[in-house]
Amino acid sequence: MKFFIDTANLEQIKEARDLGILDGVTTNPSLMAKEGITGHDNVMAHYKAICELVDGDISAEVISTDFEGMIAEGQALAKIHSNIVVKVPMIKDGIKAIRWFSDNGIRTNCTLVFSAGQAILAAKAGATYLSPFIGRIDDMNWDGIELIAQISDIYAIQGYSTEILAASIRNPLHIVRAAEAGADVCTCPLNSILGLLKHPLTDIGLAQFLADHKKAEG
Ligand code: G3P
Repeated sequence: MKFFIDTANLEQIKEARDLGILDGVTTNPSLMAKEGITGHDNVMAHYKAICELVDGDISAEVISTDFEGMIAEGQALAKIHSNIVVKVPMIKDGIKAIRWFSDNGIRTNCTLVFSAGQAILAAKAGATYLSPFIGRIDDMNWDGIELIAQISDIYAIQGYSTEILAASIRNPLHIVRAAEAGADVCTCPLNSILGLLKHPLTDIGLAQFLADHKKAEG
């Protein structure tokens, strides 16, 4: 399973990259706004800065909700760097745009996915990645991981090549369970990635090893 970081924060991106386990970055308009990145030129420059930090797929989301607008925005985003993946919402014009991008050699990430039916449509349209939002599903008292497993089964049965990108990750257990359920990629906040490191027995064991070493060395 590939690891992406879900942020537009350059420091966090660097920290995850320096772990040596990072395969890409996803952003969205909320994450860009959180970093105070506003205005067309600043947004484009920020995507370029992310591309320069990480040699992997970088998802950049369109703001338009009509076909023509999404195509124009997506083409401009794709020109920033060959690693840019155009993030397109799961709406009717979004599906048309994903088909157009796919036919024209621009890779896409279909976002705001909450059902298996949406996942089938996105795969049929030629999406490179599909982003089911598992945390937001869990927040509604449904089972986000169950959706990942269902889509994984459908894609395997049907031979779809769209990669399942588990998004809206809330904690380290989501990452483990997404991997079990067949996600191809997990995009995570830095805290969830770092949370994978944690185990009290590791800390206790290391403290013991170091204490024994110190004792033996006198
Ligand atoms: O990038 C999309 C997704 O990961 C959003 O996560 O935490 O806003 O539900 P969240």
